[in-house]
Amino acid sequence: MSNTFIIKGLDGERKLHGTVKITGAKNAALKAIASTVLFRDTVTLTNIPEINDTLRMFELLKDMGADVVNEKKGTYAVSISDGFATELSPGIAKRMRASIVLTGPVLARYGRVSFPHPGGCLIGARPLDLFVGGFEEMGARVLIKDDSYVVEAKNGLTGAEIFLKMQSVTATETFMMAGVLAKGTTTIKNAAMEPEIADLAEFLNKCGAKISGAGTPTITIKGGKLLTGKGHPHKTMPDRIEAGSFLILGALAARELHITNCNPAHLESLIQTLESAGVGIETKKTEIIVRAPAHLKSVDIKTHEYPGFPTDLQAPMTVLLTQAEGESTVFETIFEGRLNYTESLVAMGANITMMDPHRVLVRGKSELKGRKLESPDLRAGLAFVIAAVIAKGESVIHNVDTTIDRGYEDVESRLRAIGVDIERAQKVAEVTPALTLE
Ligand code: UD1
Repeated sequence: MSNTFIIKGLDGERKLHGTVKITGAKNAALKAIASTVLFRDTVTLTNIPEINDTLRMFELLKDMGADVVNEKKGTYAVSISDGFATELSPGIAKRMRASIVLTGPVLARYGRVSFPHPGGCLIGARPLDLFVGGFEEMGARVLIKDDSYVVEAKNGLTGAEIFLKMQSVTATETFMMAGVLAKGTTTIKNAAMEPEIADLAEFLNKCGAKISGAGTPTITIKGGKLLTGKGHPHKTMPDRIEAGSFLILGALAARELHITNCNPAHLESLIQTLESAGVGIETKKTEIIVRAPAHLKSVDIKTHEYPGFPTDLQAPMTVLLTQAEGESTVFETIFEGRLNYTESLVAMGANITMMDPHRVLVRGKSELKGRKLESPDLRAGLAFVIAAVIAKGESVIHNVDTTIDRGYEDVESRLRAIGVDIERAQKVAEVTPALTLE
């Protein structure tokens, strides 16, 4: 059985209205969950989004011997007990790219970790060379056999200088966490600067870590003892990608949409881009208010590491550009293969030409028509939902449980509350389930 969304389109009407409350960030929660391996006592994590990816990360920890108590919705207490295993269950880890961040804390604490090559490659090649190189810099031995990795540092990790040839988010977080229990000082150069990294560092510092520079390209970690969670419950920061996706939906189809519990400061690049496209946006401390303009203007986008335009908002933004007058180019610089979903937008009536695997040309404005869609990944999945909402007629989006449910909590109730006609149905699978990647 596979879950599908059935969406009746608004046919270009701008009538969505109301408030959408943003949940905790998937990409912050997953790392906070992994970091519990650095603690000697119980850690309480709050505002954890109830999505497939976070549940799977808890499963992975439980499988290794952690004690995880779901105290109430979004609140989990995690303790790492004696006899914690150092093997990431291939069955779970293989299906979730983000499982890789667990390797840093496990290796740093236990001197060993083994794991499968995680995730597939629907949004481009996802190599692990940065991880292997960094662990070796820290004194570990890495054995790679077929699709599995065994990393050992029998006498523990040693602080090192690690230069990342790409600004990888998960590699930065992995070495930052590994450095917390390494001997001496670890310096990460050309570190990624995504806000989730600074948020993780701030949390770990409250609990006894000595990390400086998180949020800049050079992060320094002074290694020390196991951390303590006592008196430091951690609240997951708001999901900027979810907020950005609803902002794009509002810019396309809302009379007035209030996006609450978010941090507009994390969305500067998107807000600027939407303003250039003619969208009126009002920001408050934790809220964004958006109204769809009568006409959207074309605008070129180029994805970039934070604070540039996020690759995770590229697909929803491309949907918006199909409704803008004129020609826009979309340049995806982070992942190759992350523009393949545009074929489905073309099938809906969009005028999009693939220039090369990294660039498309969008000519607007086109009328989109409802279609049967198969979501290739999490972010394109939500982009299809947005396309279906503005289209004429009914769309059926397959694979919801293996794509959209991975990253967005109860998205249909929140959409329904602002006026979207959306139903979830269970269907006998007609399509191959997608792999999970981010
Ligand atoms: C994270 C986010 C994901 C986002 C991405 C880019 C999580 C769980 N996921 O993914 O939502 O789309 O950042 O903002 O936080 N690379 C290598 N070698 C490596 C590792 C990465 O070459 O060993 C390359 C990748 O192929 C890619 C680039 O580095 O071209 C960035 O990838 P990376 O930042 O690692 O993405 P993730 O951290 O997996």
